[in-house]
Amino acid sequence: HKKAPNAEDIRSRKGGDPLVSLTAYTTPMARLMDAHCDFVLVGDSVGMVLHGLTSTLGVTMEMMIMHGQAVARGLDNAMMVVDMPFASYEHDPAQAFRNAARLMSETGAGAVKLEGGVEMAETIRFLVKRGIPVMAHIGLTPQSINTLGGYKVQGRDEQAQAVLADAHAVTDAGAFSVVLEKVPQNLADRITSEIAIPTIGIGASVGCDGQILVVDDMLGFFTAFKPKFVKRYADLGPLAEAAIAEYAAEVRARSFPADEHVFADTAPATGSKS
Ligand code: KIV
Ligand code: NA
Repeated sequence: HKKAPNAEDIRSRKGGDPLVSLTAYTTPMARLMDAHCDFVLVGDSVGMVLHGLTSTLGVTMEMMIMHGQAVARGLDNAMMVVDMPFASYEHDPAQAFRNAARLMSETGAGAVKLEGGVEMAETIRFLVKRGIPVMAHIGLTPQSINTLGGYKVQGRDEQAQAVLADAHAVTDAGAFSVVLEKVPQNLADRITSEIAIPTIGIGASVGCDGQILVVDDMLGFFTAFKPKFVKRYADLGPLAEAAIAEYAAEVRARSFPADEHVFADTAPATGSKS
């Protein structure tokens, strides 16, 4: 197999062919996207998507490590980035280093991602100088939902300067790329043209250097709500439920298991799977 890209390979894609990324939380899903994605994010969205939490604030280091290890087993070609969960890095750079190092060493991730712009620049610089590549995440930062007051577009009107300042701050601090979540298209385009690292859009602009989506959103597995920026490329949730309903009906009707699913007293001729 070819070697997965590293953080510097991703950085060097600035202005080139779009970077393709999705989230993953499990080995089988990682296997499905390995040949198609440049990097795969083990997002703290796992808390809402797989664990039924109502926000990402309850996600722990242990959850990120366990899902990171699972995803790593499914990847050969794509780089793996792991999210730093809420309260694992905000206190000070030393706390961030301890937890980022643990995520990297216990999962084999090629980089970590953390939320925040100007206020996280010092921490990003601290990590990068000590060998930890950092993907930044600005605009809508879901771990700050309680101070943002909702999952609103970030950077409209007079707020644009603040998001622009965040983009420059994380670039200057040494981040190798930055996720722009739910920012106006024109602002995303301006940031993409002004900063030297790839912008990864989610609810941002087709002009970003790459795109990311939550895999369960784009496959139609996560249906609790659908942000405007999600495109459903498949509707697997309803498909899965229909299959489950059919199974339930067949069990109740005693039509499953059928003859081909059960075993005879005597083994049939070799070569048969029965
Ligand atoms: O946790 C996540 O899935 C993310 C992406 C949406 C960027 O941070
Ligand atoms: Na996240």
